[in-house]
Amino acid sequence: MPRIGIIVGSIAEASINRKIARILPSLASDVEFVDIDIAKLPLYDYGLDGDWPAVATEFKEKVESVDGIIIVTPEYSRSIPGALKNAIDWASRPWGQNSFNGRPVAIMGASISPAGTAMAQQHLRNILAHSDAPTLGQPETFFHYRADAFGADGSLQDEPQLAVLTNFVEAAVAHIERNARVAAHA
Ligand SMILES: Cc1cc2nc3c(=O)[nH]c(=O)nc-3n(C[C@H](O)[C@H](O)[C@H](O)COP(=O)(O)O)c2cc1C
Repeated sequence: MPRIGIIVGSIAEASINRKIARILPSLASDVEFVDIDIAKLPLYDYGLDGDWPAVATEFKEKVESVDGIIIVTPEYSRSIPGALKNAIDWASRPWGQNSFNGRPVAIMGASISPAGTAMAQQHLRNILAHSDAPTLGQPETFFHYRADAFGADGSLQDEPQLAVLTNFVEAAVAHIERNARVAAHA
């Protein structure tokens, strides 16, 4: 059974991306999902290498404990939020110990705009390419968030949007299983 981490790129309490990330585990069976929190990470400073705060060590260990990662990110100012970039910087260090190296990643994002985080996701692909993390190509999932599509319990009522998320999760799990196998035999 694959173990898949979920990172939400937003640290906002009311994050719409977190709302969607909470739905994803119900759309896949035989997968262990692990929440990888980035909210409490301080800003990365290479002066701390060798004496990392516990929260950063725990974050890095969690990234390394999973077969692959799903990132659900908002778009802030036409890129990814600083908090997400900061988390990837922590995971990429100390130099030579990049935790994303070879670890498969699938990305999606939700926005209140119809553009649906398309530009942020392109930036994220660049960053992950540098980290040598194989990213899922298709389906690109640019989720246009509408509050009226959700029930009071947080469930997504819009069937076509639910189908989009299901399609994404199925492809993400297959991508992670395939690439984790390749990494294990490398
Ligand atoms: C600082 C900031 C910048 C934003 N920039 C964009 C943007 O470039 N493109 C976009 O579609 N939405 C943008 N938005 C609106 C977000 O889509 C919206 O706030 C959404 O709720 C963010 O996701 P989150 O709730 O998961 O943090 C921005 C929001 C903030 C707070």
